[in-house]
Amino acid sequence: MSNISNSTPADLNSRVRARAVGQAPSLGDVTDVYDGFGRIYGAAWGPNLHYGYWDDDADRASIETATDRLTDMMIEGLRGQAGQRVLDVGCGIGHPALRLVQKSGVDVIGITVSRLQVAQANELAAGAGLADKATFQFADAMDMPFPDGSFDSAWAFESMWHMPDRAQVLSEISRVMRPGGRLAIADLIERGPVSPQGRKVLDHVCTNYAVKSLGTIEEYRGALLAHGFVDLDIRDVTANCNRTLALMADAVETRRDELSALVGEERAQSLLDFMRLSAVTPEQGYVFLTATRA
Ligand SMILES: C[S@@+](CC[C@H](N)C(=O)[O-])C[C@H]1O[C@@H](n2cnc3c(N)ncnc32)[C@H](O)[C@@H]1O
Repeated sequence: MSNISNSTPADLNSRVRARAVGQAPSLGDVTDVYDGFGRIYGAAWGPNLHYGYWDDDADRASIETATDRLTDMMIEGLRGQAGQRVLDVGCGIGHPALRLVQKSGVDVIGITVSRLQVAQANELAAGAGLADKATFQFADAMDMPFPDGSFDSAWAFESMWHMPDRAQVLSEISRVMRPGGRLAIADLIERGPVSPQGRKVLDHVCTNYAVKSLGTIEEYRGALLAHGFVDLDIRDVTANCNRTLALMADAVETRRDELSALVGEERAQSLLDFMRLSAVTPEQGYVFLTATRA
């Protein structure tokens, strides 16, 4: 487990360094992103560790409103009912799951590969008086420790981009869901055709954020159908969501000293530059989708 408080700057810099293009991230690589510079992003951005959704360019909604709005789209997509059991694949610090519990009355089990997030999420649930409705544990989405058909529904809220094999995760989600259950996914995607400049931006995302490759909408459609999902509603919401990256760069800029202390000034500058570039790179997109387990 990563523990940034016990690490020297040299340790940290090697642990959070960029990886090679196309290399599958290990679980430890993902953990290091979230327990490393991801914590600075989280402190700057807020407890929803995901993008926001804006209706159009004129929409002036705050980051908090826009990120909660995307959570509400996921909640509506699940159509959950009180007493149902929902799996949260890649739960972060549990903020979206608690909103789901409060709005739908479902019970949630969240999984993440950061033990720090597990502790924070369980603490957040206890603080909200929801420890009996929402529990969080360490588990790998590629190989889940749950029996077949043990969940009514599931969501993967901006976690699939880290999965080295998204088809394997969809197969696992399908296995642990009951027939008729609902699935919602929000995720970063690649949109073609990809220009050389677009490829540079996508490669930066992969090498710096523990990602093998971003999926495409076509890959999602094929993998969902192959793993027993029907009733697909797949929406490219890039135009509604990509403002996130520019706003996140502004937010993280306010903590540039912390970021530079962790990853070095040069890499901090590169992370911020690419965030701003990503906001205006059409090849880096965002998908929101729902489906039903056949
Ligand atoms: C961008 S964060 C999203 C967190 C949360 N869903 C939210 O919206 O606030 C991605 C999450 O996916 C988790 N994750 C990445 N790879 C995973 C894996 N193989 N198994 C379980 N969780 C994983 C990370 O630990 C992190 O919690």
